[in-house]
Amino acid sequence: MYKIIEKIALNDDVDLFVIEAPLVAKNTLAGNFVIVRVDKDGERIPLTIVENTDTSITVISQKVGFSTKMLSKKNIGEYIEDVVGPLGVPAEIKNVKKVIAVAGGVGAAPIYPQIKAYYKKGTEVDLIIGASNKQHLILLDKFQEVCKNIYIATDDGSIGEKGFVTKVLQKKLEENTYDLSIAIGPVIMMKNVVEINKKFNLKTFVSLNPIMIDGTGMCGNCRVTIHNKTYFACVDGPDFDSDGIDFNELIQRQKYYHEEEHECNLRLGEKDD
Ligand code: NAD
Ligand code: FES
Repeated sequence: MYKIIEKIALNDDVDLFVIEAPLVAKNTLAGNFVIVRVDKDGERIPLTIVENTDTSITVISQKVGFSTKMLSKKNIGEYIEDVVGPLGVPAEIKNVKKVIAVAGGVGAAPIYPQIKAYYKKGTEVDLIIGASNKQHLILLDKFQEVCKNIYIATDDGSIGEKGFVTKVLQKKLEENTYDLSIAIGPVIMMKNVVEINKKFNLKTFVSLNPIMIDGTGMCGNCRVTIHNKTYFACVDGPDFDSDGIDFNELIQRQKYYHEEEHECNLRLGEKDD
């Protein structure tokens, strides 16, 4: 059992949890993730480790389905059944001078540890961060500590540029030169970022979030196709060079369990009544 020692509601949909997990915390590097089970019957939820101390990890969870809504009901002092990790291959922090990072929505959570690792290495990082509105922009105070410039885009224009992150990216690449780009957010955003970056001969690294079950390369659910070869995001990633990724297949695969998820959400509604 793993104790929740801090919980912050970042907005209506997104919670930050600090969880006591010394063995996981000690071995964590940027890009690692954990799989949590809220209770013994719970589904497995993959969550990127955003930060760690010697004894605790910070994770950020968006309420998208039955299990993440159950997690969101947990409070400080309560326990989570399982926290398995650190999983995945840590992100490779390259020797470069200038990086342009693009974060979409809760994709800001997994991109933060990578930007922090670049900052610690002396790399200059500019960040384009986008969300549906001002309320859904997360971790801005943390990004301010590790980024040279931050450019904001919101779908409704409530703060920053009105529109998607890709609109800002196009402008920034016309004005500046970067050595590489990292992009984390909705798959369609990553796909579109990669298309723009290609026009400027800029390599992009992305973090893929297919459906995961075991997180150890056994179940095959998290498979992704890169240059017609199969990879498992849980053990070969989740960070990948974007070159050759079949983003369209990933978008299709993410829809597989929509029916079941809808049913689960209805059951959660019944439980609340
Ligand atoms: P969202 O749907 O509100 O989108 C966030 C931002 O992404 C938008 O504000 C916009 O700037 C950009 N965006 C969206 N669609 C775009 C498009 N068609 N073209 C260009 N830019 C676009 O995000 P949300 O509700 O916070 O959901 C976050 C998404 O990120 C989920 O789909 C989740 O699965 C994914 N995610 C990915 C990872 C990962 O490791 N890749 C981690 C966490 C979350
Ligand atoms: Fe099962 Fe990756 S989650 S193989």
